[in-house]
Amino acid sequence: MNKTMLVTGGAGFIGSNFIRYVFERTGFKGKIVNLDKLTYAGNPENLADIRKKYGERYVFVKGDICDFKLLGQLFKKHNFDTVAHFAAESHVDRSIFGPKDFIETNIHGTFALLETARQTWLATPGGAKGKRFHHVSTDEVYGSLGKTGKFKETTPYDPRSPYSSSKAASDHLARAYFHTYGLPVTISNCSNNYGPYHFPEKLIPLIILNALEGKPLPVYGDGLQVRDWLYVEDHCAAIWRIINKGRVGETYNVGGNCEMANIDVVKGICAALEKFSPSAGNAALGSKKYLGLIKYVKDRPGHDRRYAIDFSKIKRELGWRPSVTFKEGLTRTVVWYLANGVWVRSVRTGEYRKWIDKNYKR
Ligand code: NAD
Ligand code: TYD
Repeated sequence: MNKTMLVTGGAGFIGSNFIRYVFERTGFKGKIVNLDKLTYAGNPENLADIRKKYGERYVFVKGDICDFKLLGQLFKKHNFDTVAHFAAESHVDRSIFGPKDFIETNIHGTFALLETARQTWLATPGGAKGKRFHHVSTDEVYGSLGKTGKFKETTPYDPRSPYSSSKAASDHLARAYFHTYGLPVTISNCSNNYGPYHFPEKLIPLIILNALEGKPLPVYGDGLQVRDWLYVEDHCAAIWRIINKGRVGETYNVGGNCEMANIDVVKGICAALEKFSPSAGNAALGSKKYLGLIKYVKDRPGHDRRYAIDFSKIKRELGWRPSVTFKEGLTRTVVWYLANGVWVRSVRTGEYRKWIDKNYKR
């Protein structure tokens, strides 16, 4: 297994971190084909270093996971033994303003991948032996928790947003392909990630970059909603372990053991920034410094109150646990955004879109 891997959505936040993790940290000797549509969230420059370093072992294909014809061609040409499926529309706020792309990519796209894997793998003489289809999903499919309790793999699905509903549908399809056709599927449901290459529409990078630009730091509602934060590299390690050691047909919850109220996350970012890029130089911020930029704004409709993950199954069965504390992860993340001004400017100004249009016509 793992000689030729299809990674979908590998130009996005977690997918690009995963590809870097596999090449740099696992001893992987094979080839990765990264299939990505390059939506607003996809940036092939996230992997510019990997492209240079690994040459023909890293292949980028601009394309849509809903495109059956393209998927058939890619499976035939590369003879994949592993699929790591990240591609998705991933932002809850966007799903509220416009759900259509979420239904298309997250549901139809996942169906197209599963069906192509079934038609290709199960039609070969050895069947799906030695193959693995890993579906990357979210804890948001379980809905919202009260003050106590944690999501287990057995928690009934109760998605609330168009995003989480579309991910829930894709999880059900993935599971159905295992039960009905014997496709060797595994699924992971993970909590909120953060780290390098996170698109700055999501809370942590948005707050870092707004603070540096002296812009308001929007906190939805009372800011007491709780998320369970996981450093992205730990998520990548969990997925790699599930692909290689996880039991086929199983679901694994992945979390950071790190419940934080949003307002505390925002304050933590302000504190980290005061250390690494003190606001003292910015007279406009006044005596409250970065903290003075915090602005409570109208709440997100249907905003889930609390997420928390019970990851005892993956810990017990596969020996995985988070390794990076929130303090360490946040420091690494803030330092990364401060050190990567070119990437940040390109993404913030939309410059990278022009570069993509020029280089990836297709
Ligand atoms: P992202 O939005 O940063 O990246 C998504 C990538 O998918 C982009 O590169 C985009 O161009 C690509 N894509 C979108 N539609 C496509 C299509 N039709 N065909 C091919 N490529 C397409 O998302 P992310 O945060 O990296 O999330 C990756 C996966 O992890 C998603 O499935 C998401 O549901 C899941 N997840 C995310 C988090 C999180 O905190 N970000 C937590 C748990 C699970
Ligand atoms: P987000 O990063 O969008 O992830 P998700 O909705 O998938 O959990 O948001 C994380 C939390 O932060 C969520 O409770 C919504 C909140 N939030 C804000 O308070 N302000 C913001 O500007 C954003 C983007 C999110």
